[in-house]
Amino acid sequence: MKIHGRPYRTIWLRPDGWSVEVIDQTLLPFTFATALLTTVDEAAKAILIMQVRGAPLIGATAAYGVALAMHADPSDTNLNLAIAHLAKQRPTAINLRWALDEMRTSLSPLAPGEREARAYARAAEICDEDVENCRRIGMHGLEIIRAIAARKKPGQPVNILTHCNAGWIACVDWGTATSPIYHAHDSGIPVHVWVDETRPRNQGAFLTAYELGAHGVPHTIIVDNAGGHYMQHGQVDLCIVGTDRVTANGDVCNKIGTYLKALAAKDTGVPFYVALPHSTIDWTLHDGRTIPIEERSADEVLRIQGRLPDGTIVTTEIGAPGSKAANPAFDVTPARLVTGLITERGLCAASPEGLLKLYPERAAQAAPAKRMA
Ligand code: MRU
Repeated sequence: MKIHGRPYRTIWLRPDGWSVEVIDQTLLPFTFATALLTTVDEAAKAILIMQVRGAPLIGATAAYGVALAMHADPSDTNLNLAIAHLAKQRPTAINLRWALDEMRTSLSPLAPGEREARAYARAAEICDEDVENCRRIGMHGLEIIRAIAARKKPGQPVNILTHCNAGWIACVDWGTATSPIYHAHDSGIPVHVWVDETRPRNQGAFLTAYELGAHGVPHTIIVDNAGGHYMQHGQVDLCIVGTDRVTANGDVCNKIGTYLKALAAKDTGVPFYVALPHSTIDWTLHDGRTIPIEERSADEVLRIQGRLPDGTIVTTEIGAPGSKAANPAFDVTPARLVTGLITERGLCAASPEGLLKLYPERAAQAAPAKRMA
């Protein structure tokens, strides 16, 4: 997608052929700048401090992190160390484990001398595949938006609510939840997006609003508690969110607060869709309550970053001094609250049957383990 008229991905190989550059998301929306990754430690830190974030981009960065490790030392020991180090940076997004498994499968059988070139090639493929998956998600989701638009008066926008940032900034390009929105906007369907601010880190107000604005998509930032109100008043036609992990039974883990939006959507009859690529499905889990939920620093709740009129970026306290804060970063929306999943292979029900209809090759893996008698 474009920033200041120039097309970008969120991660790319530099002209030297080995170092990696990413858009530094900790500086957005106030400053657009990139960060250089030259070692596996820098890639791991970029994931940890959320210079890169969003499930697919975390996976893509980890893949390049392994490539950087192979550039430094392609031994078995270093491959194992790099994968173990990257894997522990963020616990919830399954794309991290998926990308590292892909890298291990590609590199382990090779002689050390062959690993560096293969690692860079596989990391590039993972990025390209993500772009194509997100493009396809957009094409499938576009049909949902088109059908709603057809029921509206000509010129009336389709109002879509989204939570957090599941946009192109969270992926390599296009985004998951935003891809149908960009496709609809680009094909002339009037859309308007309600952007949940998404406290505590404000991924909605900072990142989703930034990228929608850069692409010219009409949008309005709302506080996290406003979505239910707009749904009750018929001002939301559709919710589309992304996800960090979908279990084999269709439960959806996403940014904290997603569950409450799904409840409100159910109560008000607003369709609630979740957009994801196959790399976000955890075929080994059958109950969303077993997904590890990242607990982040209380500082994120007790402080907020903003820009002063003179342009200075400051972090300021917003809690009662001395109070504690809890900060679970994700929650789980049970499959029963999800209208449907939008994947690169099409739409399906959030259920074991729905997922296996689209991914029949996973049948053996997706079967719940039999309990001992
Ligand atoms: O903590 P974050 O900012 O990495 O959380 C991101 C989300 O919750 C996104 O909705 C999810 O990763 C899907 S990204 C396409």
